[in-house]
This record gives sequence, C-alpha cells and structure tokens, in this order.
Amino acid sequence: MNNENTHNANRSHMYDTKARISIPSYDALFAMIQSYFRVQLDGGDASLLVIGAGGGNELTAWGPANPAWSFTGIDISEEMLKIAQYKANQLRLENRVNLIHGTIDELPATDEKFDAASCILVLHFIPDVQEKLKLLRTINAHLKPGAPFVLVSAFGDRDSKELQNRLHIWKSFWLDAGDEASSVDEMVNKALMSLSFLSDEHIEKLLTEAGFTNITRFYTTGLFGGWMSTAAL
Ligand SMILES: C[S@@+](CC[C@H](N)C(=O)[O-])C[C@H]1O[C@@H](n2cnc3c(N)ncnc32)[C@H](O)[C@@H]1O
Repeated sequence: MNNENTHNANRSHMYDTKARISIPSYDALFAMIQSYFRVQLDGGDASLLVIGAGGGNELTAWGPANPAWSFTGIDISEEMLKIAQYKANQLRLENRVNLIHGTIDELPATDEKFDAASCILVLHFIPDVQEKLKLLRTINAHLKPGAPFVLVSAFGDRDSKELQNRLHIWKSFWLDAGDEASSVDEMVNKALMSLSFLSDEHIEKLLTEAGFTNITRFYTTGLFGGWMSTAAL
C-alpha cells in the first residue's frame, strides 16, 4: 500500500470505529434502508443520490449486493471523499460511483432525475433552518416523482429533559467502549454546542415543506432518528 492509501485506510478505520460507538445500530440502520430502497426500486437499474457520501459507507453497504445501482455522492469534505473513493476502489465499485466535491448546488443541471436519495448524518451539521430546508427542497427537485428518500439526523429539543436523557445514553456508549469520562464529557458538551438539533416535529415539518410525503419515522438510536419518505408525485 502506498502512503496515500495507508492514510485513507487509517482514517477510514477510525471513522468506521467511531461511527459504530456513537451509533451501535449503525450497520442495522444501513441494512434497513437497503431493504426499503430494494422494495421501492423493484429490483431494476437505479440511480441513487447520496448527500454526505464522505466516509463511503452508503457505497460499501449497498454497492456490492445491488449491482444494478449507481451512486452519485456529494460531500463538502475532500478528505472524507478520499475515504469514500478508497472504499469504492477496494470493492471495485468505481464504475458505478461518481463523487462530487461540494454541496448539492454542485450537481450538474440536467433533466436526469434520481430514483432514490439518502441524507445520512448530515442535516445536524447545517446550522441554519432555512439552509436545511433548501437542501431538502433541492434533493426533492432532483428526484423522480414518488422516489424514496431517507433522512437520518440528530434530533431533539435542546432544552428538554428527553434530549438530556438521550445524551446520557449516548455518553454510556463511549464510556462502555473504554473512553475516559473527562473526554466523553467534553464530547457531550461539544455535541450539544456544535450540532444543530431540531425536534422530530420540526424535522417532519421541514420534510413536508420540502415536498416529501409518506413521512415515517422508522429509526431511533441515541441522539439520532431516521425518516423514510417519498418525493411528491
Ligand atoms: C458524519 S458524516 C456521515 C457520512 C455518511 N453519510 C455516514 O453515514 O457514514 C457527515 C458528512 O456530511 C458531510 N457534510 C456536511 N455538510 C454537508 C453538506 N451541506 N453537503 C454535503 N455534505 C455535507 C461532511 O463533510 C461529512 O463527510
């Protein structure tokens, strides 16, 4: 392995380990979304839009078992996209994967619409509610009518006891994995300060405003929730 590949392999390993501590049901989440997409897409060729594709786990979870799916992945982090490209190459998926550096605004304007889209663990990094709505609206605009869309995001009322309790649960995942109490406390404070939380009602309202229908919460683990929906007909 050359230096660049070693670096990407190390970063990838670190990201994957941390993701699975933060979200113990991380692999089950991707498996559930795959099932939903498979049934909705009915076994045919399908183009998937992956917002926040850095890390490459949508590609590794869904690519090998679904040879008729192609992926357009978008991410604002060049470093994370290198991990995604590294994983795609390792699994020989490169012919079905197109990675774009930037926001969804970098998607070429074309009449070609996607068959499905995911936005996993991205929305809480966008601080402004109008920007979140704009992203969801733009995803909807790039989807075929009735196409499935899955959103996964941190959620909760920042001042509520309910979110405080979920933060305690989240903290326990890291403590149980062997992290020092002081560094876990620091991470909890940082998560509260740096992630942009919206209540589940507010997230569902944004999805509706963005034009999605059949909005169904299917997933919760620790700080995170997942919603399935379909683009308007
Ligand atoms: C926690 S990672 C999630 C990666 C992957 N979806 C997963 O579930 O493993 C969040 C990713 O979203 C990217 N990101 C943040 N804001 C974004 C935006 N506005 N558009 C596209 N990607 C974004 C980050 O660079 C990062 O790679």
